[in-house]
Amino acid sequence: MNAIPTPPTSPTDPRQQALFMRACRREPVERTPVWLMRQAGRYLPEYRAVRSKVGFLELCKTPRLSAEVMIATVERLGVDAAIIFSDLLPILEPMGLELEFTAGEGPVIHNPVREPADLDRIRELEDVDRVGFVMETVAATRAGLDDSIPVIGFAGAPFTLAGYCIEGGTSKAWTATKSFMVRHESAWHDLLARIARGVSRYLVAQLDAGAQVVQLFDSWVGCLGPDDYRRYVLPHARTAIAAAAARAPVIHFGTGNPELLPLLAEAGGSVIGIDWRIDLDRGWELAGRDRAVQGNLDPVVLLADRDTVRRRTQAVLARAAGRPGHIFNLGHGILPGTPVENVLELVATVKAG
Ligand code: CP3
Repeated sequence: MNAIPTPPTSPTDPRQQALFMRACRREPVERTPVWLMRQAGRYLPEYRAVRSKVGFLELCKTPRLSAEVMIATVERLGVDAAIIFSDLLPILEPMGLELEFTAGEGPVIHNPVREPADLDRIRELEDVDRVGFVMETVAATRAGLDDSIPVIGFAGAPFTLAGYCIEGGTSKAWTATKSFMVRHESAWHDLLARIARGVSRYLVAQLDAGAQVVQLFDSWVGCLGPDDYRRYVLPHARTAIAAAAARAPVIHFGTGNPELLPLLAEAGGSVIGIDWRIDLDRGWELAGRDRAVQGNLDPVVLLADRDTVRRRTQAVLARAAGRPGHIFNLGHGILPGTPVENVLELVATVKAG
């Protein structure tokens, strides 16, 4: 990769003074920064136009196009940060899993892990160049944006990635995953430890490539209770986060069970993602006042009329009460079918305070 003129996480990088970065560090800001999970996605006609010409995985593996999709989205929406356009799952390919995105079903893994013996064919990601296209996407996204817009890299958390490896796709209850976890505890820890070390390298590589922040998505961990999270997941989440956290803010995001918030914070992350299942102020108490928080409007609100969008956005801001360290986001990704004008209304409302 070409040399990057400013050292990526240098304090003299102008991006370090952006609203979003200051909020990550819990410094006071003139207004709350905002970006949205899945801000580039199927709800946007421009995204659908790109996708009519190129498959999803191919798009993820074409840094120039991935960068273009996110740069156009950030400019259209006027948000304060750019998550790279990529996905949680391409990292599984160099680990030995056969991944496909199908039109109706979403992701499919053709050779899932079902028994401990299947771990023999799971390789740890030792060489991040196997997913070098992601680092190129980071660099291209950064290069194409104004230097007031920080770039967020990301990865799936060990539990959520193990869930896809074991289920072979997405799931509502994650029963095969949980059953593997309780039936084969030592193989489970072996699998999560391998994933966690690979994720750790991958997050650091995204910082090296020019990201200012990384987010760890534990999208489905809320199917666990606190004791099981502590026993089966927390040590691995900590491994995944530690090296990146020594260098930059890490956003640690989970959904589904607000009782896990203190444990997500214990595993690491200076910013804790909060979904809509708890009021923001109460979620912040659970995450700890020593953390910044990101959230937490229910994405379904964006399907309502614009007045409702405005009112509900203001209600989240009121819960944050101007305390330093709030990054406005949804509690989870934008839903397909969301009207673009509602997303613009949300952003305008946050910017108006
Ligand atoms: O705009 C952004 O936020 C950046 C891009 C991004 C995508 N996926 C693009 C995408 C990010 C950050 C992700 C992360 C991701 N991928 C997560 C964590 C976030 C979350 O929602 O919890 C998860 C669980 C995945 C796995 C995944 N990718 C699934 C289950 C699916 C199919 C279901 C769905 O929502 O489409 C995807 C596909 C996917 N990832 C799309 C996009 C824009 C749609 C693909 C298409 O164009 O058809």
